Amino acid sequence: MKKARVIAVIIFFVFSSAWFIQAAVLSASQKAIESKSAQKGLQKAKELFSKHCARCHGEDGKAETQEGLDLGATDLTSERVKKMSRAKIISTIKEGKGAMPSFGKELSKSEISLLADYVQKISKGE
Ligand code: HEC
Repeated sequence: MKKARVIAVIIFFVFSSAWFIQAAVLSASQKAIESKSAQKGLQKAKELFSKHCARCHGEDGKAETQEGLDLGATDLTSERVKKMSRAKIISTIKEGKGAMPSFGKELSKSEISLLADYVQKISKGE
């Protein structure tokens, strides 16, 4: 009777630790997948920024390109942009502002959303 109980306890621990290990492995691979997709998003955002924004705002966002200086493009690393809400950045990209063209027709919602994340990243110096 006692022996059976010991065996039962051992079996219980073996199974529960197997479950625990499996859960740990699953959550680690889930995290790896998530960080991979975040990296992909960042890569895509960088490409979009280079293609559509960098000629005025510069690859570094500081707007020190010839066209940026000529048009008075905003330094995306400035306090002003740091304080902008994500919604305001999105509406600026969609509708344009002053000499900045609008991108609402050219870019999809998800592309604009990626760009807004990227602008916020640049503004924080990341
Ligand atoms: C043809 C040049 C040009 C291009 C291309 C351009 N911008 Fe601009 N951007 C400007 C100018 C000029 C301003 C300043 C507008 C003003 O304040 O009158 C500006 C301002 C901004 C601002 C600040 C708005 C504010 O309220 O201060 C953000 C954010 C911004 N641009 C993001 C972007 C993003 C993201 C892209 C690419 C999708 C982009 N811009 C493409 C010229 C450009």
